[in-house]
Amino acid sequence: SQYQIAIIVGSLRKDSINRKLAQALIKLGPSEFSFKQLEIGDLPLYNQDQDANQAASVVRLKNEVRAASGVIFVTPEYNRSIPGVLKNAIDNASRPYGDSAWTGKPAGVLGASIGTIGTALAQQHLRNCLAYLDAPTMGQPEVFIQVKEGFFDEAGNITSADTVRFLQGWMDRYVLWVKRHAE
Ligand code: FNR
Repeated sequence: SQYQIAIIVGSLRKDSINRKLAQALIKLGPSEFSFKQLEIGDLPLYNQDQDANQAASVVRLKNEVRAASGVIFVTPEYNRSIPGVLKNAIDNASRPYGDSAWTGKPAGVLGASIGTIGTALAQQHLRNCLAYLDAPTMGQPEVFIQVKEGFFDEAGNITSADTVRFLQGWMDRYVLWVKRHAE
């Protein structure tokens, strides 16, 4: 397809509700968009001493981000911020200085939590990083999902038609956001 979008999930857990949300979101994309979930669980802890000799997993992540027309982040909130694994991925792909993979990538931010504020504070911290990294991040609509029992069915589908409609609206806006920022 014409536009390849990288998806980064901020949880490594097998049954992650954020991974389920990402998978449900992918189904709402138009045919000219394809989506690839990027692996961040095998990255080394960022160490500036390795800048001149980045691990293969870091080089891979940077190439995948560079090849993408946009990046969607779907993240949990950990202790009122983003999970360390996500920050580690952001830091690794931002270096060495002057060689960041994030520059100019149209970004989208979503998150799911079991709590009522639905990752709002984590997303705000993430937006702060993306602003510094010069990744134009869509401001609206915001997606703060609270996952309660029955939110997903056995197949991983979102059971509420209203929520699916809302996420479709998000995807439609994100598609325009990516096209607007395409070279
Ligand atoms: C959490 N959780 C959580 N939820 C929230 O809304 N705000 C928070 O600050 C935190 N903090 C937090 C810290 C740690 C270390 C864990 C493990 C969990 C709960 C969180 O929303 C819940 O575990 C989600 O299921 C995590 O997302 P995934 O892994 O299911 O995608």
